[in-house]
Amino acid sequence: MVPLKRRKVTTEQTASHDEACKYPDVAIVIVERKMGASRKSFLTRLGRSKGFLIQESYSSSTTHVVSENNTGDEVDIWIKKQKDTEGKASAHSVNLLDISWLTESMASGNPVPIQDRHRLKTSPKPFETTPAVKMKSYACQRRTPLKHHNSFLTDALEILAQNAEFSENEGRSVAFRRSASVLKALPHVVRSMGDLKDLPCLGEHSLRVIKEILEDGTSSEVESTRQSEQFQAMKALTDVFGVGVRTADRWFREGLRSPLDLIPTGQKLNHAQQAGVKYYNDLNTPVTKKEAMVISDIVEKAVKAVLPGAIITLTGGFRRGKELGHDVDFLITHPEEGAEERLMPKIVNWLDNQGLLLYQKTTRNSYLESKDGPARPASNMDRFERCFSIFKLEQLESDTHTETSSYNSGRAAGTEERHAGSTWRAVRVDLVVSPYSQFAFATLGWTGSKLFERELRRWAGQEKGMSLSSHALYDSKQSSCLL
Ligand code: CTP
Ligand code: MN
Ligand code: MN
Repeated sequence: MVPLKRRKVTTEQTASHDEACKYPDVAIVIVERKMGASRKSFLTRLGRSKGFLIQESYSSSTTHVVSENNTGDEVDIWIKKQKDTEGKASAHSVNLLDISWLTESMASGNPVPIQDRHRLKTSPKPFETTPAVKMKSYACQRRTPLKHHNSFLTDALEILAQNAEFSENEGRSVAFRRSASVLKALPHVVRSMGDLKDLPCLGEHSLRVIKEILEDGTSSEVESTRQSEQFQAMKALTDVFGVGVRTADRWFREGLRSPLDLIPTGQKLNHAQQAGVKYYNDLNTPVTKKEAMVISDIVEKAVKAVLPGAIITLTGGFRRGKELGHDVDFLITHPEEGAEERLMPKIVNWLDNQGLLLYQKTTRNSYLESKDGPARPASNMDRFERCFSIFKLEQLESDTHTETSSYNSGRAAGTEERHAGSTWRAVRVDLVVSPYSQFAFATLGWTGSKLFERELRRWAGQEKGMSLSSHALYDSKQSSCLL
């Protein structure tokens, strides 16, 4: 029912009986239908004389609609007509009451609490219960809360998105991710297809999946994907750090199904993949916010030791407020432009000397060598100096979890069998260094999510004629960089 919050009372309504009105929060309208004009005016005068705010006509400030011998549905229709004549379509719900509520209130001298017997019954309206939501079409134009109401649908759509990624069908994958993102932005649970009316980005395939879940509780396509040998193998293999979709697909076609198969079949593994296999369990155990904070302190110490005055920002999922992540991302800069050059090897050396690194691969920046300018990277990858690493994180006594609360529960594959009560664990850490002049763009670009970044760039390009990267915002019309 209606939240009875204080509503604005118009001057027209208060003018004649301002002083007499004792209950300004209760704005009553008496329906003349089936009652007649004379009884309505009698009750209006009586009510006002007892200090009730009785309005001449229905308006957006009305809180109580009182009628005699009408059903709830009849009063509903009456209200709709009043709204139409008022030119207002706003969904504003009010208490629909029988006249007995008003007579009892007048008798007791104040608005009596509404009881069930006072309320007029209305029949349920399936498609009107959830007001239509106006939703912008680019994900970057709307709020996408981490905790939302429709995980039962978005988890399913994201399985299909991931499966599309496994077959390198990017368009299809993005379409499913966009659909999921729209559902995440809804302020309510989706209960029927009617709730999806007028929403953007919901393609025919996604709608079919959603419909099936709403009707049957599950989608056969999602379930068969989830159960399929190929999907499970691709997931297990790409969960190895350093293994992309192409390698996993090749291994799958060669008959491999899990990281455990990599060693006996003597697969050639690069350094990243070797570390990925070795620390498989740890790297597939979610990083907690607490662990991210400990790593943050370590990185801060390392960076400040080699470049005093440097600024360290936590980016990625933890900057977005996530409680868990698959890694911890940092962006590092220094207010003095140029002071950050060749910083990464120094940080890595410091960390290595402390015995904190299990693996690292540093890539030099390439924006200085670029002829096209920083705004137009050759690929989606930016050109910053970066380091993809695995930290050896000493754990607090209370945090040592030897059981694997892994993302991939049930599949323990790591070759590094740590003994019970081990005091450390492996954690993926990404470090990126940006010049101060590009720091804002880099922060934006490394905060994610991946879909948000993609949509923001699409919006900049298609709607604003600009090109956004982690380095700059480039205005195509003015042929200039907005640094
Ligand atoms: N990113 C990037 N280039 C890469 C990798 C990542 O620009 N080669 C950016 C992306 O914008 C991405 C962000 O860094 O959104 C963080 O990436 P990632 O750590 O993969 O994802 P998170 O959103 O942090 O999710 P998780 O919590 O699982 O780590
Ligand atoms: Mn991350
Ligand atoms: Mn990352």
